[in-house]
Amino acid sequence: MPTIDPAEFARTMAHVPTPVTVVTTVDAAGRRLGFTAGSFTSLSLDPPLVLVCLAKKASCHEGFVHSRRFLVNVLAADQADVAGAFARSGHSGLDKFAGTPMQPLEHGLPGLTDATARIVCALHDVLDGGDHSILVGRMESAEVSGAEPLVYHNRRFTRPGSTAELLSSAAR
Ligand SMILES: Cc1cc2nc3c(=O)[nH]c(=O)nc-3n(C[C@H](O)[C@H](O)[C@H](O)COP(=O)(O)O)c2cc1C
Repeated sequence: MPTIDPAEFARTMAHVPTPVTVVTTVDAAGRRLGFTAGSFTSLSLDPPLVLVCLAKKASCHEGFVHSRRFLVNVLAADQADVAGAFARSGHSGLDKFAGTPMQPLEHGLPGLTDATARIVCALHDVLDGGDHSILVGRMESAEVSGAEPLVYHNRRFTRPGSTAELLSSAAR
C-alpha cells in the first residue's frame, strides 16, 4: 500500500481551513484542563453528537478520556492569543489558564468569555484514531454569541471571508 510521508500529509491538510476551539474540562482532582483544537466538527444530528480529536501524547489526554463532560469554546476572530496560550504544552506543569479570563459554567466547566459559541458535551464515547483519540460528545446545551469566528488556514489565524475577499480583489 502506498504511504504518504508525514510532512506531505501536514502540508496538504494545512490547506483545509478549520475552526479554532479551546476544549476544557475539570479532572477528578478538580484541576482545569484545556487544549486548542481545530479538529472539532459535528457528527450526528440524532443523537446530537460532535467530535474532537486529542493527541494521545498530550498531557491532558488522560484527564479528557476519563472525564464525564467537556466544554467546546469556539473562538472569536480576536481570540488568536487565547488559541496560542492553549496550544502550549502542559507537560512542564504550565498553567495554561493563567492570564485568560474564564467563567465556570455548568458542572464547573471553564468557559471562555466572549467565545463565538460554548457547547457543553457529555462524553459519549472515546474512539481510536491512530495517534489521536476521538472524543465523541453528546451536546447537552449551547450558547452562541454571533461574534465572527476565528479560522486556521495555511498555518495562520485568519477570518472567514478573508480568502474570498482576496480572490475577488485579484479578479478585478
Ligand atoms: C490551530 C491549532 C489547532 C490544533 N488542533 C489540535 C487538535 O485538534 N488536536 C490536538 O490534539 N492538538 C491540536 N493542537 C495542538 C494542541 O493544542 C497542543 O498540542 C496541546 O495544547 C498540548 O496539550 P497538553 O498541554 O495537554 O500536552 C492544535 C494547535 C493549534 C495551534
